[in-house]
Amino acid sequence: MAEIGQDIIQAKNLLDQGELVAIPTETVYGLAGNARNESAVARIFEVKKRPFFDPLIVHIGAISQLSEIADDLPSWAEALAHKFWPGPLTLVLPKSPAIPDLVSAGLPTVAVRMPNHNLTLNLLSTLSYPLAAPSANPFGYISPTTAEHVQAQLGDDIAYILDGGPCMVGIESTIVGYDDSNAIIYRKGGIPLEEIAEITGSLTRVEDHSDPLAPGMLKSHYAPSKKVVMGEISDLLKTHASQQIGILSFRKQFSEVAASRQIQLTSDGDLKEAAKNLFAALRKLDAMPITHILVEPVPDQGLGQAINDRLRRASS
Ligand code: TXA
Ligand code: MG
Repeated sequence: MAEIGQDIIQAKNLLDQGELVAIPTETVYGLAGNARNESAVARIFEVKKRPFFDPLIVHIGAISQLSEIADDLPSWAEALAHKFWPGPLTLVLPKSPAIPDLVSAGLPTVAVRMPNHNLTLNLLSTLSYPLAAPSANPFGYISPTTAEHVQAQLGDDIAYILDGGPCMVGIESTIVGYDDSNAIIYRKGGIPLEEIAEITGSLTRVEDHSDPLAPGMLKSHYAPSKKVVMGEISDLLKTHASQQIGILSFRKQFSEVAASRQIQLTSDGDLKEAAKNLFAALRKLDAMPITHILVEPVPDQGLGQAINDRLRRASS
């Protein structure tokens, strides 16, 4: 079992020695190691059972650190960083040689973000290197939004979990890159696309196909072990009447199923609240004595787009 606590010095000492520490962010918990230490980075892939072709995000504590990570900061990226950092936005930029190729899976670009969580920003300010950190879950499973989620799955493989409480956003960062003419969305996330487009103009989306450049976009991802079925719940209740069923709905309760086997993402239709509750709700349902989890799409606007994206992948 990993120790759980709020001791930044202990976290720093472990990281300085090349060990891994789970860190809180506003989106999900990360499995962090020194981004410039190749053996620490290799250990991240090993603990997560993540394929080496799937690149990591580098976390920094101040925008000024960008020059140590990215070789070039296009003006669109600077504008996005100043508008949304610290916050749930990841930028894909030309990689500096100071970052090992292992971090970027050999790509000429590197993903970087400044997370919005006091404990982790304080930790980063004490370190002389940035932190490489994927979400702290086994590859393909639901991302963790509490220290206990991390403990349940990776506790035997890491020494320390920095406990920052439940994640306030609850869904991973939006990932934005660029080609010659267009901003490219690699993953929908905590910053709604509408807000990105206000700065970048038109957006191209890399989605709905398995692209090794952005495995977060793999069709099947974020998946519980129970079968997840997505659609209109009133219809699904008819077609799955003979199954052991749990329900994850946006806000409605259904009389056909025991209340104890239903979770509503929000009581009043708030998409922020729904995003914050999403992964913990999927984990709770996954632990119930049921065979199928019925889910319905939420309103497809703002954060709802990222929520629907995760629900679709969980059900794929
Ligand atoms: O909110 C988040 O982004 C969380 C917290 C811990 O910061 N991190 C996270 O990391 O979700 P991870 O490793 O689970 O997902 C990172 C995604 C992957 O889908 C990866 O393929 C993509 O970022 N990625 C990383 N580098 C990339 C690059 N150079 N080009 C395109 N996609 C990249
Ligand atoms: Mg992940």
